[in-house]
Amino acid sequence: MGKPVFLIGYMGSGKSTTGKKLSKLMGYLFIDLDEEIEKMTGKEIQRIFAEDGEDAFRLLEHSILVSLTSRKNIVISTGGGTPCYYDNMALMNRSGVTVYLKMQPESLAKRLMNAKKQRPLIQGKPEHELPGFIKNHLEKREPFYSSSHLTQKGESLDINDLLKQVREHL
Ligand code: S3P
Repeated sequence: MGKPVFLIGYMGSGKSTTGKKLSKLMGYLFIDLDEEIEKMTGKEIQRIFAEDGEDAFRLLEHSILVSLTSRKNIVISTGGGTPCYYDNMALMNRSGVTVYLKMQPESLAKRLMNAKKQRPLIQGKPEHELPGFIKNHLEKREPFYSSSHLTQKGESLDINDLLKQVREHL
């Protein structure tokens, strides 16, 4: 009991919103990995990407993730790329319960149209290129995401059903 719960999925799949709800229902603490990185560095994610580069961001992301894996009673929402770098996915699968919030690329594109600004990987993309970019990018990431213990459809997520499944895996 008490293993960390990791929410995984593409940008815009609702990891933070779902994580907050789930943590409340479980009586667990909620941690957003991007927010932890911002707190530790005193820099916003966009600034880390712009000033230090993506590799530096991925190393920070990995180090902070490692430090969280031994914590008990927490729900962690990860960044969209977290499972795809270093051995992060194996690490999360070993130390806790992983939940993939799976969404269709079309639904993600709709959500992300208005939320590009704070996301360096899609910030500069013209709107008409976004659906194609997301489809390709998601295909590359899918093998990592789909090795999660649990998969939930993001478009029709039932939080009580998710809670039940997570409890069965703790
Ligand atoms: C990223 C997703 C972002 C953030 C960073 C990189 C990615 O988090 O970690 O911009 O590689 O998909 P969200 O999934 O919360 O947007």
